[in-house]
Amino acid sequence: MKHYIDFHEDVGIEELDKLLDIAVDMKAKTKARIPHHYLEGQSLAMIFTKSSTRTRVSFEVGMYQLGGQALFLSDHDIQIGRGETIYDTAHVLSGMVDAIMIRTFAHQDIVDLAKYGSIPVINGLSDDQHPTQMLADLLTIKEVKGGLKGLKLAYLGDGNNVANSLLQACAKAGMDVAIASPSDYTCPDKYVGQAKKDAAITGSKVLMTTDPFEAAADADVIYTDTWTSMGQEEEKAMRVRIFKDYQVNSKIMGVAHKDAMFLHCLPAYRGYEVTEDVINGPQSYVFQEAENRLHAHKAILVNCMADINEFI
Ligand code: CP
Ligand code: NVA
Repeated sequence: MKHYIDFHEDVGIEELDKLLDIAVDMKAKTKARIPHHYLEGQSLAMIFTKSSTRTRVSFEVGMYQLGGQALFLSDHDIQIGRGETIYDTAHVLSGMVDAIMIRTFAHQDIVDLAKYGSIPVINGLSDDQHPTQMLADLLTIKEVKGGLKGLKLAYLGDGNNVANSLLQACAKAGMDVAIASPSDYTCPDKYVGQAKKDAAITGSKVLMTTDPFEAAADADVIYTDTWTSMGQEEEKAMRVRIFKDYQVNSKIMGVAHKDAMFLHCLPAYRGYEVTEDVINGPQSYVFQEAENRLHAHKAILVNCMADINEFI
């Protein structure tokens, strides 16, 4: 059984190339309106205990385009929101659908869903990781730059779920990755260690720093995310003060390569983690990145729910 929960554990270095190839194929077929009903008759349960625009829409439309169906299950409606256990939910859904995508707070709940269930589980974001975002990001970089290996990605801001997954994903892809965060908000050692291990295999470098200019220097990709993730709303005022020097603006873009791309997983908060001129400017690829969630997620769905060899 193939889960997609943790980029480090669930995506092999060679498998990453295959997933990207499938995503490219999905995008071409979607644009050309060539039917690709690889998951005909299959159902995906989508559990959300946090908000979503991109992840929800892309998985739901993706399942439809693959000939299957998706069920949107908000915690306001399903019994998980009233205390039904992950154990029981995993068993019940395993008897009715073919895979589960879940966005929630505790990463362990996603791991437990996979442990107790008997169907593939996809992590649509936890407090710790955001692995589905990564495949879309790598696809976008590959489209714009023509490849991944040897490029440098710099992430500025909170050492959060997106930053942790970027560390994992860039190291697997053979990209140098630099993370600049205030010292109390850097990525946990676990993710830095994993990235360094993979970087040693793929020949890339990992830099952890508190200096945003050091991270951004000569970068091919500048990436940021909200300073206040879902669940941290009460800390917003404090976080705006703590992260103010980590804003992506024209000064930061000025030390990166002159053709550097700007990426953001979105939703973005203009005037905070990124200035309006950068996110709306010519170096920004955030909407191509958002669209690529659809194509990348279809690759993940096919990889988890069908025999990948049929599609490459
Ligand atoms: N980037 C991302 O996951 O967006 P949503 O929260 O809208 O799903
Ligand atoms: N770090 C953000 C990502 C949103 C897609 C959050 O967790 O809210």
